[in-house]
Amino acid sequence: MAFTVRLLLFSSLFLLPVSVFAQTNGSIAVGDFLTATAANSSPWLSPSGDFAFGFLPLGSNDLFLLSIWYAKIPDRTIVWYANRDNEAAVAPKGSTVNLTANSGLLLKSPQGEELWKSEIIVGVVANGVMNDTGNFVLQDRNSESLWETFNNPTDTMLPGQTLERSGKLSSRQSETNYSKGRFQLLLQEDGNLVLSTINLPTNFANEPYYATGTTSGTVAGSEGKELVFNVSGYLYVLRENGGKYNLEVGEAVSARDNYIRATLNFDGIFAQYYHPRNFTGNVSWTLRWSEPDDICQRITESSGVGVCGYNSICTLKGDKRPTCGCPKGFSLLDPNDPYQGCKPDFIQGCKEDELSGTKDLYDVEVLTNTDWPISDYVQLKPFTAEKCNESCFQDCLCAVAIFRSETCWKKKLPLSNGRVDIKDPSLRHNMRKVVQMLEGVVEVQVPSCPSPFSRSCLKESFI
Ligand SMILES: *[C@@H]1O[C@H](CO)[C@@H](O)[C@H](O)[C@H]1NC(C)=O
Ligand SMILES: *[C@@H]1O[C@H](CO)[C@@H](O)[C@H](O)[C@H]1NC(C)=O
Ligand SMILES: *[C@@H]1O[C@H](CO)[C@@H](O)[C@H](O)[C@H]1NC(C)=O
Ligand SMILES: *[C@@H]1O[C@H](CO)[C@@H](O)[C@H](O)[C@H]1NC(C)=O
Ligand SMILES: *[C@@H]1O[C@H](CO)[C@@H](O)[C@H](O)[C@H]1NC(C)=O
Ligand SMILES: *[C@@H]1O[C@H](CO)[C@@H](O)[C@H](O)[C@H]1NC(C)=O
Ligand SMILES: *[C@@H]1O[C@H](CO)[C@@H](O)[C@H](O)[C@H]1NC(C)=O
Ligand SMILES: *[C@@H]1O[C@H](CO)[C@@H](O)[C@H](O)[C@H]1NC(C)=O
Repeated sequence: MAFTVRLLLFSSLFLLPVSVFAQTNGSIAVGDFLTATAANSSPWLSPSGDFAFGFLPLGSNDLFLLSIWYAKIPDRTIVWYANRDNEAAVAPKGSTVNLTANSGLLLKSPQGEELWKSEIIVGVVANGVMNDTGNFVLQDRNSESLWETFNNPTDTMLPGQTLERSGKLSSRQSETNYSKGRFQLLLQEDGNLVLSTINLPTNFANEPYYATGTTSGTVAGSEGKELVFNVSGYLYVLRENGGKYNLEVGEAVSARDNYIRATLNFDGIFAQYYHPRNFTGNVSWTLRWSEPDDICQRITESSGVGVCGYNSICTLKGDKRPTCGCPKGFSLLDPNDPYQGCKPDFIQGCKEDELSGTKDLYDVEVLTNTDWPISDYVQLKPFTAEKCNESCFQDCLCAVAIFRSETCWKKKLPLSNGRVDIKDPSLRHNMRKVVQMLEGVVEVQVPSCPSPFSRSCLKESFI
């Protein structure tokens, strides 16, 4: 008896690691499927066990996301997710994803509704492979690739992945909402790699806030051919003539010792991160580099909402990520998401001003180094700060006035591209001079109007 027990113990000890590897050569047969369940959803692993393909719970609503993630690190970092028509293919509990010969991956709800599928152009799928690079590949019987997650990227690129012309990454809505967000990284047809915001629900792209400038320019053949993230972890635009435009800066990071990824974050920052493969304790991702340097200043678009949405103010944090806030008199459109912009807590209108009949209903607030650079509707010059202030006060269309160098800009709602600039020395110097001269900066005037009209107004002047 004792002998048997010892033998069993031994065999289970040895079998455990062996069986893990025996099950995971990364190959998935047609007919295999996964079910979205809270407990025991064992994903399809790559041979090394570094990457997993399967369902991850989304929040606590019995919803799941079909995705690929790093399976060996505690930090659940998703590198690819199923999405279509700008929406993440969110799957309710009990949904299944099946590997089929004719449709490739097929995601269906428990009621049998098709939620998402991989688009196979031609061919019949023989099997799937969860590759150690993090690429999930559908192959035909000759092991030719028919479809790959690497060719259908979401917001992240991995070493070994390339982006062809007109290929792009799209940000998510927020850290936890995987629907399409308003930032994109696009390798344009002219070879230029650009970051821009798009005006959802369309794909209309605003002026880029970052560009590599890798067009043909004056040298034929210097236009970008593809964006390459090579297996050593270097990210560069490969030019038609073989030249390279390197995106990264600073010390190289070993791809052998680290997981490396490049992600277009939900707030528009494109960044490269690394995480040690071998680690103990609480280790997370380390930032290697990011673009652009100051997104609050770089985004100035004539027909888009900016980094933070309308009527808000963008401030850069120490890690070069933007934060968003509302000026006094405004509140968040979505209380849970400061990046969606602000709405006025008042009704601005000429009717209201007329009815109130008085101008002393306003509070005054001073804001330093703040501007909404392109919400102007009139420019007055030469003008004095006092006249600028007065003019905005008396103009029922005026939401904000900015005064600088004898010039008064009156601005209208919605205010866009709002930002605080504490870094630009020329701007700061300029403003400090004005501030000292006039002993005042920006005024936000928030009235609390007497009944019967429970409304308020906001006015602002920058002097
Ligand atoms: C992977 O393992 C499965 C059985 O688990 C086997 O059918 C398949 O042939 C293997 N593929 C390769 C490439 O070894
Ligand atoms: C997936 O496969 C399972 C088991 O074969 C089957 O019950 C289910 O209906 C299949 N679902 C789809 C969407 O094909
Ligand atoms: C699969 O991974 C290997 C390295 O593990 C790599 O050489 C190969 O190119 C990858 N294949 C695909 C289709 O991504
Ligand atoms: C994600 O954001 C989109 C767009 O704002 C919204 O329609 C959707 O309901 C959000 N999803 C979740 C799960 O919050
Ligand atoms: C990746 O690119 C870097 C920079 O161009 C280069 O030094 C390195 O040799 C490349 N690695 C591979 C495997 O091609
Ligand atoms: C990681 O650790 C294992 C053993 O703990 C070791 O065999 C392996 O060489 C290490 N890998 C790296 C890249 O340091
Ligand atoms: C790990 O560290 C991060 C930041 O240093 C912290 O926010 C997090 O709570 C830590 N997690 C654990 C499990 O200690
Ligand atoms: C701006 O105009 C208002 C209304 O006339 C006045 O109360 C306020 O003192 C003025 N502020 C400055 C700085 O001139």
